[in-house]
Amino acid sequence: MTDYFKFLSPAGRHLHESAIRRMGTMAARSADMVSFAAGYPDPTAFPWDSLREFSAELLSGTDPTVLQYGPTRGYEPLIESIVEVLAGREIAVTPREVTITTGSQQGIDLVGRVLVTPGDAVLVELPAYTGAISAFKNAQAELVGVRQEDDGIDLDDLDAVCQRERRAGRTVNLLYLVPNFQNPTGLLLSLEKRQRLLEWAERRDVLIVEDDPYGALYFDDVASAGDTRPMRADDMRGRVIYLSTFSKTLAPGFRVGWVVAPASLVERFETAKQSIDLMTGSFDQRIVHEAVRCGLLDRLAPGLRRLYQTKRDAMEVALREELGGRLTWPAPKGGFFLWATLPEGVDDETLLARALEERVVFVSGSAFFVDGTGHNRIRLSFSAPSVERIREGVRRLAGAMAANVVNS
Ligand SMILES: Cc1ncc(COP(=O)(O)O)c(C=O)c1O
Repeated sequence: MTDYFKFLSPAGRHLHESAIRRMGTMAARSADMVSFAAGYPDPTAFPWDSLREFSAELLSGTDPTVLQYGPTRGYEPLIESIVEVLAGREIAVTPREVTITTGSQQGIDLVGRVLVTPGDAVLVELPAYTGAISAFKNAQAELVGVRQEDDGIDLDDLDAVCQRERRAGRTVNLLYLVPNFQNPTGLLLSLEKRQRLLEWAERRDVLIVEDDPYGALYFDDVASAGDTRPMRADDMRGRVIYLSTFSKTLAPGFRVGWVVAPASLVERFETAKQSIDLMTGSFDQRIVHEAVRCGLLDRLAPGLRRLYQTKRDAMEVALREELGGRLTWPAPKGGFFLWATLPEGVDDETLLARALEERVVFVSGSAFFVDGTGHNRIRLSFSAPSVERIREGVRRLAGAMAANVVNS
């Protein structure tokens, strides 16, 4: 048998696998598994009828460009629509500052490819989105964690960590954040901290990667939509690279996201993207463009907010009823995730093994911590399962907890 391992490059050997994808595979093991693992949107909320109409029209054969290669930076009318979507978020940009990407995940990867030198420190929160951890690790960054408070990243720790790394001789160019309903904690970064972060980035000469897939999905507990105001809206010094996506508000199967950055950086992202996929799928972009152009995306948003709020409520009620005070969590004010702290002596991996036997799956908290901690946390995603399945899944979780899991 050929030994393929010896053919692998150092990068190929050390590829970082996403813990969430792994959990997704586990979820597929049993048809009856309740999955609180992946942050998938609810497929019943996909606008099937409209999408069928757009597709039929686009595939009528009258416009050959629908299935043709196109510019790497994206379908121009869609870029123009994105500029308008951004204006709705108080972000004023020109089309030259936008590139479309194959999901915002590719945007993070492009940032890693273009801006990370192997060995650089990239600052992330404790905990942080695993897809970003993977992308930056694959760019051979050293991921360095910064503590988090209830209103987002701890600014004192941020500065201390940044200065410590620099004193140790490491370059610190990037801070990665998800300010709106963070994956995995659901936390909302306070407006005051957003302002202070912009000042800090200028003072310490750092770029902030602001990843915003969930900003439109806020619940009633958010005082106003202004609470989700992106940092990029107030970024007068060009310190923020802003990423967003249609995955959570339209459908992730289209793989259409985007990056906003100064035009000189966008050109670099475009060149890096050329060798990865030449371009984001034409057909995907055309359907998404129709959805934005005819106002479908805007019309969907209020219903999505209500839907996910109902599911958040269902999960919180079920957790209280089934588990009493054994789990604690900050109430998610938007997004897809509930971030629970386990009782003393219960460990995430051990609980996960028991939960799989009970046919419920979640993501272990430790997967989100770059410092090896987080074993007393779990991420429960309430977005995809129905309310009924959420209740059933929580009952099963309670069964797994009742097995009195002790730290192994
Ligand atoms: C914080 C965050 N960033 C990026 C992504 C990737 O989204 P996309 O489907 O646009 O690649 C996700 C998906 O779960 C996410 O939670």
